[in-house]
Amino acid sequence: MRALITGITGQDGSYLAELLLGKGYEVHGLIRRASTFNTGRIDHLYQDPHAEGAKLFLHYGDLSDGARLVTLLHQINPDEVYNLGAQSHVRVSFDEPEHTGDTTGIGAMRLLEAVRLAGVDCKYYQASSSEMFGATPPPQNEETPFYPRSPYGAAKAYAYWVTRNYREGYGMYATNGILFNHESPRRGETFVTRKITRAVARIKAGLDQHVYLGNLDAIRDWGYAPEYVEGMWRMLQADEPDDFVLATGGNFTVRDFVATAFEHAGMDWEKYVRFDERYLRPTEVDALVGDASKAYEKLGWKAEVQTDELARIMVDADIEALEHEGRPWYDKVGLPNWPVVGAPGITGV
Ligand code: NAP
Ligand code: GDD
Repeated sequence: MRALITGITGQDGSYLAELLLGKGYEVHGLIRRASTFNTGRIDHLYQDPHAEGAKLFLHYGDLSDGARLVTLLHQINPDEVYNLGAQSHVRVSFDEPEHTGDTTGIGAMRLLEAVRLAGVDCKYYQASSSEMFGATPPPQNEETPFYPRSPYGAAKAYAYWVTRNYREGYGMYATNGILFNHESPRRGETFVTRKITRAVARIKAGLDQHVYLGNLDAIRDWGYAPEYVEGMWRMLQADEPDDFVLATGGNFTVRDFVATAFEHAGMDWEKYVRFDERYLRPTEVDALVGDASKAYEKLGWKAEVQTDELARIMVDADIEALEHEGRPWYDKVGLPNWPVVGAPGITGV
């Protein structure tokens, strides 16, 4: 089996690449050309493409470049396409609404159109989002009406509908995974969970005194990302394309997540958390709590890690990562742990 993943350098893309490589897939990833390396989350998966039996291949491209997508679809001829690429930050989408619409929304249409124009017979997964439900109160499932509250949510709603349209109009195998928030130690540092757990580690180590946050009252349904990429894969193994919610069903406020994370590190959060209005959004999504019973019934998928455990996993990982940062350079590159600082024969390090 051969898969193409857009967004392979992101949180979900990195876990999905691991999962598919573990299943014996040949994995192709779309990466953006940048002036600095942006492959940190998948460096551990890197294989020399010249080596016999290499299974991971990276290609430069961008969801704003439709011609490039057609060329790549022709060249790769994948069995499965996972469209995870997006400007995925809701707050940023208010600052960059046009770019968000172009990549997160129209980008999905470009990729679907590339599949169609290249004549590739493949299954397509669209990374749809619970942000599409926006102001519609919980619990939310596949039948819940959309009421997006951000340029990001509106762009995802466009991508959702264009995915359904290619399924109905052209008979394509095109599925929407409507995923509620999912996090991990690989979560981007500006999403609230990771911002909190990273701050806990830094405050505990004496590197920071405070963390500044916005709305603590928002309710989210936070699950564990590696379980959610398994759900994505299961969706594409179904006989028919469909739309599925993935969620834990739990409801935690941002404040609850803060309290759990600080408490796990033995600290009282109220001493360290401060308010900054710059983290508020012009329109907020007050509550997202998912009902994933369809995914359980049809795919046998169920979230195991609940939000409190997730918070502890992320705090432990950030504390450990920070300890690692503080270790001497020879430890980090895997050389023997010399008893004295500095390695023999190497000067100026
Ligand atoms: P992420 O960590 O922000 O990763 C986004 C990925 O998209 C990165 O690889 C990024 O590349 C890439 N990308 C950004 N702009 C692009 C463009 N113009 N062309 C091609 N690639 C582009 O997001 P994630 O948390 O893994 O989420 C994966 C997908 O699921 C996203 O579509 C997100 O909107 C959606 N989603 C996420 C959640 C969640 O809770 N995590 C829930 C529902 C839906 P760089 O590394 O170069 O920036
Ligand atoms: N990022 C951030 N930073 N959010 C904060 C902060 C802060 O300092 N303080 C409070 N929040 C609140 C936000 O207002 C929001 O209500 C909640 O924390 C979660 O914010 P994010 O972690 O940025 O995630 P999100 O829910 O807006 O969006 C994520 O989940 C969507 C699925 O529901 C992203 O991963 C989207 O890509 C995804 O589609």
